[in-house]
Amino acid sequence: MADKIDLLVIGDITVEMQHRLETKFQLHDYFSATDKDALIAQQGSDIEAIATNGHDGVPDDLISRLENLKVISCYGVGYDAINVAAAADKAILVSHTPDVLNDEVAVTAIMLLMGVARQLRANMDWISSGDWVKLGHPPLSRSLTGLKVGLVGYGRIGQTIAEKLDIFGCEVSYHARSERSHSPHRYFGNLTEMAGECDALVVITPGGPATHQLINAEILKALGAEGFLVNVARGSVVDEAALVNALEQGIIAGAGLDVFEKEPHVPLALQQHPHVICTPHIGSATVQTRAAMGNLTVDNLMQYFLDGRVLTPVPELKHLNPAG
Ligand code: 8YV
Repeated sequence: MADKIDLLVIGDITVEMQHRLETKFQLHDYFSATDKDALIAQQGSDIEAIATNGHDGVPDDLISRLENLKVISCYGVGYDAINVAAAADKAILVSHTPDVLNDEVAVTAIMLLMGVARQLRANMDWISSGDWVKLGHPPLSRSLTGLKVGLVGYGRIGQTIAEKLDIFGCEVSYHARSERSHSPHRYFGNLTEMAGECDALVVITPGGPATHQLINAEILKALGAEGFLVNVARGSVVDEAALVNALEQGIIAGAGLDVFEKEPHVPLALQQHPHVICTPHIGSATVQTRAAMGNLTVDNLMQYFLDGRVLTPVPELKHLNPAG
């Protein structure tokens, strides 16, 4: 359709997103193209917009090859798979979906924390293995009340996790680049020190080079043999080999993991460990939250082609967004 704007879709979008997008855009599905190079060679100069997600991002060469690309809308809050600096060089706006998923990701983090502290997996296995019948009651688990939880990252989702943990009676502290004024939670400038004082670390910091393998052998050692690790951020933030070793050697007590280094591949050592709970990157994956994220992803594109601005630009590119 000549009057529609050409949009490259990278990765999955929901049916609702597709229907809304089709009212204004001509959709080109990058992953279902048998020859991606041919798609870009033939349609590339028409493409003005990209819809992608936090996992698939945008292959770097596309940012340089699509000469008329103006806007990238990411279905997710994390955008480490998009080269924002390369987009900025070409004055391409990038939007994401902050805030609408705060509660959901926070609930996922707390679900994993509760799961590991209360030994959900080992307790389920206790029944299925017949141990309840053979041996009687299982070993006692750890209470969430009074648990010292250190948040690695204290942005919008981190603060939402903190508020919810307060309600459960946890003692919450956080590590971030700088201390927040008026925060009710204790600040640690030094992550190793916080790990040493906490019973659990919950990782909720953006991915990317600045946080690559921030949680390493040293941090896990400081967390200690009674400590739990929860990761709902990005797999890249944790040194997965060091984590496997720490679990196998009893250097830490358990882990609740929603994200992994090489998704969708999860090391067997993590899948099978009785004190590890793994979920397949479902932090925001509920019908309600994905609908809100999908709407915001589409709204950003609609708004851009209405008046040249997006509703929720990534922080680094706010300067490219005209004032509303
Ligand atoms: C999604 C996420 O898994 O928002 C993020 O950063 O990791 C997720 O909520 C993803 O972007 C949706 O495909």
